[in-house]
Amino acid sequence: MKLTYNKSHVSEREIVAIGEQLSPYAEHLKEVLQHGYEDEESSINLPGDKELMESVGAAVRDKNTTSLKYILVIGIGGSNLGTKSIYDALYGRFDILEPSRMPKMVFLDTIDPAFLSHMESFFDKEITNEEEIVINVVSKGGRTTETIVNAELVLGTLRRKFPGILDRLVVTTDFGSLLWKMAEEQDITRLPIPQKVGGRYSVLSAVGLFPLAKAGVNVIALLSGAQKMRDRCLSLDIRENPAMVSAAVLFENFRMGKTINDNFIFHPELESLGKWYRQLLGESIGKEHDRDMKVVRIGITPTVSIGSTDLHSVGQLYLGGPEDKLTTFISAEFNKRGNAITPEVFAGAEEGIAGKKPADVAEAILKGVKIAYEKKGLPFMEVLLPDITPASLGAFMQWKMMEMMYLGELFNVNPFDQPNVESYKTETKSILNS
Ligand code: PA5
Repeated sequence: MKLTYNKSHVSEREIVAIGEQLSPYAEHLKEVLQHGYEDEESSINLPGDKELMESVGAAVRDKNTTSLKYILVIGIGGSNLGTKSIYDALYGRFDILEPSRMPKMVFLDTIDPAFLSHMESFFDKEITNEEEIVINVVSKGGRTTETIVNAELVLGTLRRKFPGILDRLVVTTDFGSLLWKMAEEQDITRLPIPQKVGGRYSVLSAVGLFPLAKAGVNVIALLSGAQKMRDRCLSLDIRENPAMVSAAVLFENFRMGKTINDNFIFHPELESLGKWYRQLLGESIGKEHDRDMKVVRIGITPTVSIGSTDLHSVGQLYLGGPEDKLTTFISAEFNKRGNAITPEVFAGAEEGIAGKKPADVAEAILKGVKIAYEKKGLPFMEVLLPDITPASLGAFMQWKMMEMMYLGELFNVNPFDQPNVESYKTETKSILNS
C-alpha cells in the first residue's frame, strides 16, 4: 500500500509538526492494545483476537451446508457497509457475469418495498431447501427500525415455506441487547459485538467476519492485512505512519478551505468501499459539538467518484468549479489480462490505442487526470493498493479507521459517537408509535 502526498499542498514541515502533536495519542493507542475491549479505540484489538475467530468459526461450521446458495445480510450503516464493500470488491461487482458462482450475498438495508417483493418471488423460485440460505441479522443496538422491519418481513415469508428457518438465522448484536435476549429465548445462534466497538469500526468483528467467511472470503488474510497495517499506524514517527499522514493532509487541507474530500476510485468494484469510507469520515468527524461541548458544526464532506465514469459526469465541476476539494485518488495495480486492442471496425476513431491492453488505457486515463488536476493547482493524494485481495482490503480499512482516530484528535471531536443519527431514529420511532 503506497500513499503519495507530494501534490497535497501540505509541506513536509507541516506533516512533521502534526506528527509531534499526535504522538502522545499514538502512545495512548499502544496502551489500548493491552486493555482488550475497554477503550473507545478498542476496535484496533479485533485483528489478532483468537476468541473472536473461534466463535465466528464455530458459527460458520454450525451453518455449514454444501448446498448453500445465498447469504442474506440484513443490517444498515455500520452493520453492513464494511461487509458489502469487501464482498463487492471481491465478488459482488461480477455477480451478474458469474450466475453459477455460489454462494452469493444479498444485502437488505433500507426499506425498499419493490426490492422486497422481487426478492420474495426470487427466493420462492430459487430456494428449494432451507439449507440453501443463511440469514444474518446485524444490528449493534438491536433496535434499528429498518433492520427489524426487513428481518420480520423476510423471516415471515420464508417461515411459511420453511418452518425450521430460524435454524438458518444468525443474529449479530451487542451482548445483552434486546435483540440478543430475544434470540436467546428462541435458541437462535448469536454472535456478540464488543460493546465499545462502534458500528462503523466493526467490520473486523463478527459483523463482517461471519458473513464474509460464509461467502468464502479468506478472513484470516483480511485480519492479517489489518494487523500489519495496525502496527504501522501505531508508529510514533509520522513518516512511518500512514494514518497520521493522511489525517494530517485532510486536516491541513480543511484549514485551507477544502471542506470536501473526494475519493476518486479508479476501480468500479471498490465503489462500496468508498461508501464505507463516506460513512466513516462523515459520522466520525461531522459534529455539532466538539469534545468541550462547544457548538462547532464541523466536518469534512466525503464524496465518492468512480474513474473514469464520473469524469464524464462531474469532471467539469471538479476541474472548473469551486476549489473546495481535496481529492484522494485510489487505485490498485491494473489487471494486465485481456486482449490487446486491434482497431478494425472503428479504426482511426481513437489514435494511439492499437496494440494497447485495457489496463494500458486505464492507466493513461488515470495519469491524464492527475496531470490535469496538477495543472489546475488542485490538491490531491494518491493511494496505490498492490492488488484487490482480502489482505489489501483489510489493510486499507484498518488504516482508514485509525486515520479517523487521529482526525478526532486534530479536530477535537469524538470520532466514535453519532448523536445526531440517534435523533432521527428517535423521531421515527415516535411517529411509528403515535
Ligand atoms: O455507525 C453507526 O453507529 C451507525 O451508522 C449504525 O451502524 C447504524 O445506524 C445501524 O445501527 P445498528 O447497528 O444499531 O442497527
